[in-house]
Amino acid sequence: MGLEKLYDPVAEFYDIEHDKMDCDISFYVEEAGKAGGKVLELGAGTGRVTQALAKAGIEVTAVEISKGMLDIARKNSKSLPSEKKELITWVQGDMRDFSFDTKFSHVLIPFRSFQHLQTRDEQQSCLDCVSRHLEKGGSLVLSLFAPSYERLAHKTMFNHLGTIELPDGKTLSRTERVTHDHVNQIVTVQWTYDVSDFNGDIKRKIWTFPMRYLWRFETELLLENAGLEVEIIYGDYRRGEFNHDGEMLFVARKH
Ligand SMILES: C[S@@+](CC[C@H](N)C(=O)[O-])C[C@H]1O[C@@H](n2cnc3c(N)ncnc32)[C@H](O)[C@@H]1O
Repeated sequence: MGLEKLYDPVAEFYDIEHDKMDCDISFYVEEAGKAGGKVLELGAGTGRVTQALAKAGIEVTAVEISKGMLDIARKNSKSLPSEKKELITWVQGDMRDFSFDTKFSHVLIPFRSFQHLQTRDEQQSCLDCVSRHLEKGGSLVLSLFAPSYERLAHKTMFNHLGTIELPDGKTLSRTERVTHDHVNQIVTVQWTYDVSDFNGDIKRKIWTFPMRYLWRFETELLLENAGLEVEIIYGDYRRGEFNHDGEMLFVARKH
């Protein structure tokens, strides 16, 4: 399935699933704030990070490929005070190939969205676009997961991701099957969504998405090829040292 349609079938669940996820927000807001100008966010989803940027008074152009996700993002931002809402420009677009007249002081690709790009060409094309849109001295934050040796050692993994109550009182239960393709550096994640009603009837949706995992030095080379110099790699959102597990958060700069 193309990236345009990938998230559409499960867009309705995204905010419910990520309701408690806020550990990364202050990191993104701080980095964007330090840059002190216009910000470009790629893979903005339903606006989880976008809204926090706007609330902090940051002007942000938010690019998202999925119409389903973007519709929810637009709806979500309606509840912002008008002076904050005006700071956001929503754009349906593709991080692999985009063009704006504006240059930005900061670009962010949060929550591993870049890992949806599966080929070297797609990755490079995205970072080249980023570089072209950054002002001199501007910064990029690129969020990736660090390939965990422990996880990769399993050919297949199964996890129960928990059960959540939906606004209409039904329950959503999710399980995950993860397979690793070490030759192509692809993790294929399959999520099974079971929505049960009060009569015990279950509606099932199965969503499969591949993610490319990247190694540290491979990522540095991609960034360097795009004219972006790596300043630091953090291992978590509290700026802990990178240690080959957990997060791999690159801060790179255009000189
Ligand atoms: C894991 S979600 C992250 C959403 C949001 N940034 C957040 O932190 O909650 C990844 C998002 O990237 C979007 N995406 C994937 N490929 C894309 C592309 N080529 N261009 C723009 N957005 C893309 C997906 O549609 C999805 O909304």
